[in-house]
Amino acid sequence: MTVTQAQVAAGQAIYSKNVLRIYNSFVLGFSNQFLWRCPTHHLLANYQRNISANHLDIGVGTGYFLERALAKVSNPRLAIMDLNPTVLEYCSAKIRHYHPEVYNHNILEPLPSNIKKFDSVGINYLLHCLPGSLASNKASIFDHLKAVMNPGATIFGSTLLNDLPKNWLTKTWMGAYNRKGIFSVLDDHLPDLESALHRHFTNVKIDLVGSVGIFSAIQPAQVTRV
Ligand SMILES: C[S@@+](CC[C@H](N)C(=O)[O-])C[C@H]1O[C@@H](n2cnc3c(N)ncnc32)[C@H](O)[C@@H]1O
Repeated sequence: MTVTQAQVAAGQAIYSKNVLRIYNSFVLGFSNQFLWRCPTHHLLANYQRNISANHLDIGVGTGYFLERALAKVSNPRLAIMDLNPTVLEYCSAKIRHYHPEVYNHNILEPLPSNIKKFDSVGINYLLHCLPGSLASNKASIFDHLKAVMNPGATIFGSTLLNDLPKNWLTKTWMGAYNRKGIFSVLDDHLPDLESALHRHFTNVKIDLVGSVGIFSAIQPAQVTRV
C-alpha cells in the first residue's frame, strides 16, 4: 500500500499545545477506560516492566509514561523522537531533568546513523497513528529500530487493533479518527503484529486488553562468526 506525505502528516497533526494540555485526562483517562477499554495502568505497567536506563521513546505525546516509569531509574540516558516539533518541545519541558536527546524524525524513515544504541525502545500508541497497513507499511519501523538497539534490548508498547472486540462507542470513535487520518487502524490486525514482531525479535509477548495489543520483544543477540 502506498502512503502519502499528507497521510503521514495527518497522523501527528492533531497534537498541538492545546491538545497536549488535555491529552492526559482525555486520552489516558477517558478514552483508555471507556473507548478502548484498556485502562492506562496496563500501559504504565508495560513501561515499568521494560524500560531501561538507556532508553529511546518514539511518539512521545506528553511524556506521561516516561515521567512515571523513569522515577525509579537512576541517572538514565533518555532520547525522545517524534515527527511533531510541538510534542518534542512539550515533552522535553516535562522531563528536562533527564536532559533528553531530542530527535525530530519520521519513524517511517531510517534513523540517522550516528545515534548511539539503546537497551530499550518504547513505541506506545504509535503504530495506530502511522498510515497504511501493519503488514506492509508500519512493520518497516522495526527494521529502522533494530539498527539502534543493542543485542538483548527490549522493544515495547501498545497499539489499537481492528480485529479485537469493539463496542459501539469504540466503533464510532475509531471510525471518526480513521476518517480524519488521526488513526489508521483499518488494516491493523493481531496476526500481522504477531508475525512482524516474530520476524524481527525473540521473546515476543502480546497481551490483549479491550481493543489494545500490549507487546514486548527482545532484539536477538548478534551471531558471532568464527
Ligand atoms: C497517540 S500519541 C502517543 C503518545 C504517547 N506515546 C502515549 O502513549 O501517551 C502518538 C504520538 O506519535 C507521534 N507520531 C505520529 N506519527 C509519527 C511519525 N510518523 N513519526 C514519529 N512520530 C509520530 C505523534 O506526534 C504523537 O506524539
